[in-house]
Amino acid sequence: MEYTTLGDTGLSVSRICLGCLGFGDGKEWMLDSDESREIIDRAIDLGVNFFDTANVYSTGGSEEILGEAIDGYDRDRLVVATKVFGEMDESNPNARGLSRKAIEQELSNSLDRLGVDTIDLYQTHRWDDDVPVEETLRTLDDAVRRGSVRYVGASTTLAYQLAEARRRSEALGLQSFVSMQNHYNLLYREEEREMLPYCRENGVGVLPWSPLAKGYLARPHAELETTARGRTNDYTDLYPYLEGNGREINERVAELADENGVTMAQIALAWLFHKDVVDAPVVGTTSIEHLEQAVEALDISLSDSDVEYLEEPYEPVRHTL
Ligand SMILES: NC(=O)c1ccc[n+]([C@@H]2O[C@H](COP(=O)([O-])OP(=O)(O)OC[C@H]3O[C@@H](n4cnc5c(N)ncnc54)[C@H](OP(=O)(O)O)[C@@H]3O)[C@@H](O)[C@H]2O)c1
Repeated sequence: MEYTTLGDTGLSVSRICLGCLGFGDGKEWMLDSDESREIIDRAIDLGVNFFDTANVYSTGGSEEILGEAIDGYDRDRLVVATKVFGEMDESNPNARGLSRKAIEQELSNSLDRLGVDTIDLYQTHRWDDDVPVEETLRTLDDAVRRGSVRYVGASTTLAYQLAEARRRSEALGLQSFVSMQNHYNLLYREEEREMLPYCRENGVGVLPWSPLAKGYLARPHAELETTARGRTNDYTDLYPYLEGNGREINERVAELADENGVTMAQIALAWLFHKDVVDAPVVGTTSIEHLEQAVEALDISLSDSDVEYLEEPYEPVRHTL
């Protein structure tokens, strides 16, 4: 396994972060506790020390599964990340968002479900237009000061929002967001315009979500619906992967995979590993074989012309948050 430091922090994280969205229930393709545990055990075995979940994944189920799975391990060796923002109880308006009340309650619930005293990286899942940003920043800072959280990160905001939040934190002497978990893959590169240059210039760690475009980059276009997840994913509206010449990019990924004797997923991940600004893609898999392939992809070397060939067909697509 390769390790890097997260942005400008001293925190060492594996260059693969295991995404835990698929651990829980609610969708046909999700894994139950025992099945998830096998993936988590194998990840730790392979040197993955970095795990990403969220309070909303399976309404707390993913955090519970991760917490149970890491229980027997040396907690000091693992970096546990979770998120807050999404609605946890539709009958309670304070069980969503980034107000002081919502964050403090949700943080306490996440700590319980994960069975830990401290969350290594606590991320805001989305921007909350209804709460003054200073309220959110002060609440997160308090959580760090009382030892419930080590680092704070953001996910899926506009670049100006991240910049403004960090500027405010610095001016107020509060903990700043150290990382950005954003949507970034060969079929969704809108972040290259504003967000990624900002992160590079300011030492903000970058953790791309859906690095395989939710499976669209992992198999030929014609076979997208051969998996349960492929059949249920929305690749056109919510995730407009087809709009920016997605089909042609998919074909070029397949072609390079063939030439190199590796899988499409490995080429798509290798492309991300070649981006200096990227610390660790958040890889979502429910298969040990696919997890092993992700780790092997760290050894794939793409030439500049390979990278150009993969990137060349892309055209801007609708911005998604
Ligand atoms: N912050 C946010 O707003 C946000 C949003 C979405 C996701 N996330 C995070 O990002 C993680 C990953 O996102 P994601 O699951 O949407 O997308 P992803 O990692 O781009 O894609 C996952 C899909 O790719 C397939 N896959 C993975 N490796 C493969 C391989 N080697 N060969 C063939 N297929 C392969 C998986 O199938 P198998 O299961 O069969 O391997 C699964 O269907 C999540 O777990 C979550 O932690 C965060």
